[in-house]
Amino acid sequence: MLNRSKSLKLFAVILSVMMIVSLFTMPSVFGAEAPLCGDADGDGEVTVIDVTVIQRHLVGSLTLSDAQLKVADIFGDGVDITDATLIQRWLVGMTAGYPIGEPMEQDNDANDTLVVVFSRTGNTKPLAQYAAAYLDADFFEIEAAVPYTDADIAYYTNCRADREQSDPTARPAIANEVGNMEQYSTIVIAYPIWHGQAPKIICTFLESYDFSGKTIIPFCTSASSPLGTSASNLHSLAPDSTWKDGRRFAAGTSQATIEAWMKEMGY
Ligand SMILES: Cc1cc2nc3c(=O)[nH]c(=O)nc-3n(C[C@H](O)[C@H](O)[C@H](O)COP(=O)(O)O)c2cc1C
Repeated sequence: MLNRSKSLKLFAVILSVMMIVSLFTMPSVFGAEAPLCGDADGDGEVTVIDVTVIQRHLVGSLTLSDAQLKVADIFGDGVDITDATLIQRWLVGMTAGYPIGEPMEQDNDANDTLVVVFSRTGNTKPLAQYAAAYLDADFFEIEAAVPYTDADIAYYTNCRADREQSDPTARPAIANEVGNMEQYSTIVIAYPIWHGQAPKIICTFLESYDFSGKTIIPFCTSASSPLGTSASNLHSLAPDSTWKDGRRFAAGTSQATIEAWMKEMGY
């Protein structure tokens, strides 16, 4: 019989060996069966290797697929160190009440519509939210990697926005990304008018993904300008998409008006 101290040492050695082995093991691909909660490497069981896979993802030495991220995200708030810790605790019987090791529900009716918005002063965003609610769509707000300060958008002062809008090559970087763009067949893109056009960050967004075969519905808000050429000038950035006619709305447009427009378009 092993005493307690020897058992612990043996357990520690087994854990270490498994962790070292995992450093040289690439996660497998999920099969057709429902993946298990916590099974980040998709090998059909939850082990210490899954903990290591998550840790490696967190330090950037391993890139996980969307499917792997989903099973690794025990708390449903994005994968972080607490997910790895929770699995570790579950492995030694210290955690109950989480579905670790249980088959996850298959997301068979993944949403096929995405509403994307860039809204610096908050006029466009609620209208985009109305559209998302009506369409039962996923929602994505573009965040500038370098946020626009009030000085940056003080237009007609040669501010950052003024300079970007007059520079055909300007492509302001985006801080966040849509991880599963291939899932969507319809994309609503909402933006404010900046000097008669969409902000250049919308160009960055359109150049960041493959929109082939997707339907794109643009709309904007403005102080007074019409939609003008702001939407048609974006077509060349997603040339293999079906672009619907866009529409301009004033700030404060009601949910009913947005819904009526969606209905008019057959949604
Ligand atoms: C840099 C800049 C340029 C703008 N240019 C125009 C314009 O050409 N025509 C117009 O009607 N409004 C213009 N506006 C006003 C915005 O289009 C309007 O306030 C919009 O609703 C802002 O949307 P947001 O709050 O979602 O950012 C401009 C605003 C900024 C910051």
